Amino acid sequence: MTDTCKKIIENRKSVRFFSDKQVSDECILDILDCARLAPSAKNRQPWRYLILTDEQKNQVVDMFEKKLIEENSEETGIETVRILKQSSKLVLAFMDYKEIVAQNHWLEPYYFSMGASIENALLRATELGIGSLWIYDICVIKDELVKMFCPDYMFISAICFGYEGKILPRAKKKSLKEILIKN
Ligand SMILES: Cc1cc2nc3c(=O)[nH]c(=O)nc-3n(C[C@H](O)[C@H](O)[C@H](O)COP(=O)(O)O)c2cc1C
Repeated sequence: MTDTCKKIIENRKSVRFFSDKQVSDECILDILDCARLAPSAKNRQPWRYLILTDEQKNQVVDMFEKKLIEENSEETGIETVRILKQSSKLVLAFMDYKEIVAQNHWLEPYYFSMGASIENALLRATELGIGSLWIYDICVIKDELVKMFCPDYMFISAICFGYEGKILPRAKKKSLKEILIKN
C-alpha cells in the first residue's frame, strides 16, 4: 500500500515566511484544479476562486493594512500583512450561496464543503513543494472584497502561496489518543 497521501498530509503546514521565488500561474491553476475535486454537500460545488493579479494583491493588502490601522487592531493583523506582502500569490475563496439561501437550505454543509475544497488546495500545494497559508484575519475587509470583486458571492477565506523562506517545524498536533472519545 502506498503512503504518499499520508506523507503529504503529514508534511502540510502553515507557512509564514516565504522566499522571493515566485509561484507560477500554472501551479496555482493545478492547485485549484484539485480544490475543484473536493466533496460537497449535494455535490453543489459552491466554491469560486479568484486568483489576484499582483496589482490586485497589492491593493487588497493595502486596504487590509489601512483597515487594521483605522480599527487600532494592528497588533493582531500586522503579522498577516507582512506574510501577505512576502507571499507570491493570493487567492480569494468565495461561496456561491444565493440559490442555497433562496431554497431555505442550511448554509453549514456548504461551509464544510468550502473547507474540504481549501484543504485539497493546501495538500496539492504541499505536494508541489509550495508553501501555503489559509487566512481568515482578512475578513475585516470581507464586505470590501465582495463589493470589489464578486458581489454575488460570500467571502470565505484567503489563501496565500509561496516557496518556504525559513524552514520552521510544524505546529504541535494532538495525539490520536487525545482526539478519540472513549467508548
Ligand atoms: C479557517 C482557518 C482560518 C485561518 N486563519 C488564519 C489567519 O488568519 N492567519 C494565520 O496566520 N493563520 C490562519 N490559519 C492557520 C492556522 O493558524 C493553522 O492552521 C494552525 O495554527 C495549525 O498549524 P498548521 O496549519 O501548520 O497545522 C487559519 C486556519 C484555518 C483552518
